[in-house]
Amino acid sequence: MSINILNSQRNDIKDDESLKQLGFIELAKKKVAALEKELGRKPTACVVTFGCQMNARDSEKLLATLKLAGYEEVETEDADFVIYNTCTVRDNADQRVYGRLGQCSNHKKNNPHMKIAICGCLMQEPGAVEKIQKSYRFVDLIFGTHNIYKFAELLNSCLDSDRMIIDIWKETDRIVEDLPVLRKYAFKSGVNIMFGCDNYCTYCIVPYVRGRERSRSPKDIVREIEKLAADGVKEVMLLGQNVNSYGFDFKDGDSDKISFAKLLEMVCEVEGIERVRFMTPHPKDFSDDVIDVIAGNPKIARHIHLPLQAGNNEVLRRMNRKYTKEQFIDLALKIRERIPDVAITTDIIVGFPGEGEAEVDDTIDVIKKVQFDNAFTFIYSKRAGTPAAKFEDQVPEEEVKKNFDKLLKVVQDTARDQASKHQGKVETVLVESVNEQDESLLTGRMSNNTLVHFKGEKDLIGEMVRVSLDECHGFYYMGSRV
Ligand code: SAH
Ligand code: SF4
Ligand code: F3S
Repeated sequence: MSINILNSQRNDIKDDESLKQLGFIELAKKKVAALEKELGRKPTACVVTFGCQMNARDSEKLLATLKLAGYEEVETEDADFVIYNTCTVRDNADQRVYGRLGQCSNHKKNNPHMKIAICGCLMQEPGAVEKIQKSYRFVDLIFGTHNIYKFAELLNSCLDSDRMIIDIWKETDRIVEDLPVLRKYAFKSGVNIMFGCDNYCTYCIVPYVRGRERSRSPKDIVREIEKLAADGVKEVMLLGQNVNSYGFDFKDGDSDKISFAKLLEMVCEVEGIERVRFMTPHPKDFSDDVIDVIAGNPKIARHIHLPLQAGNNEVLRRMNRKYTKEQFIDLALKIRERIPDVAITTDIIVGFPGEGEAEVDDTIDVIKKVQFDNAFTFIYSKRAGTPAAKFEDQVPEEEVKKNFDKLLKVVQDTARDQASKHQGKVETVLVESVNEQDESLLTGRMSNNTLVHFKGEKDLIGEMVRVSLDECHGFYYMGSRV
């Protein structure tokens, strides 16, 4: 990878904790160099990421630490250091982690130097550490979401010891700035604007494993984006579980207390940044000032991911979503009216306790009225410790499956109709990669998040180019440069 590691130089850094961690990276370097001598080759490291964009961003920091310590990055889990950054939002996410971890033990049998680490949201759940201690004894290092900034320090301990190291914190109010980071893409980057979630939707584990909402100061966010822009980044995605409650946790009168709308404007002003995305807004906090700023600012992507979850008012109430079906529809239609070329996508859960076919029909009604450009549909997964896990009217699997299939068909038909509307238009795309199937093609992403494949040379990767949308293929376009 030819991308620079940002914040690897002491003079880039103002946070004392990050300086301390850089010190630990220096220490780890010596240990990794000794291992290199012993192995007669460069030690390798693999970071395996599950879950959302927030975890992906955390993994870029884990990888930077490993690279600076002297490991060579590899994609396969037969590496000398493997770390799993886990997700626990649904049960199948948990199962995938444990499955992969089990397979990884085979590699360790062939490589006595191998170290296996596991971190992230699943580790914050009661019982998860105990399960690893009991059934996955070969794991060397376990830590959580709140102390991930200490990875360099923990890596040192792990390289020094043959015992399982466990460090899990219940909470933190800290935000550590300036940790080294190695981006996956040279030209685009996620940027955390806040951590945690205070919404406590009754089905959701995130507030328990990610802690309370903490916003980064606008100065720190803009400073990071300026650094990214200077390093060639053209597109940023502002990340948080509820981005439009940004700054709510700052005290009144604090100069840092600005609205999400204001933050968006400040980010758009950073020279070199050509496109700004954000993920995820909560419908209950989506205020008119945010719509105004998007409408008036062509740099902000014409894509809003607006999670609906359910369309029935009683289900929404029991989910603690704090909006009604009617309020959601009004908001989505207002967004469509004010920002005419916008794509609206959503998340939907099917099978929440008490949700039968009639209730799912309300969700289908919302899909038809809003005409979502795409929707991620999930089967409700009972998460231990959440209020909904104790609700008595859990829906039988068969009924959920039937309702899910019915809803999915409407989602797909709607998405196909919406995608085909752009036929013949000319759009600016950010070129992201060479097409996986056909090397003569490039893949670019439109402002509204739709992918376009077109003929071109790979030196265009990272550039904004104009492309005509010639042929719609369901969810993507075949196009040509103009
Ligand atoms: N903060 C964001 C997304 C968080 S998790 C939001 O409020 O939308 C991403 C998605 O996972 C959610 O939007 C929801 O659709 C889904 N999800 C969360 N908990 C779930 C559960 N217990 N079962 C099924 N899907 C769930
Ligand atoms: Fe979970 Fe709700 Fe917070 Fe999203 S807003 S992370 S769904 S509790
Ligand atoms: Fe999963 Fe944690 Fe994200 S539970 S969805 S990785 S915040």
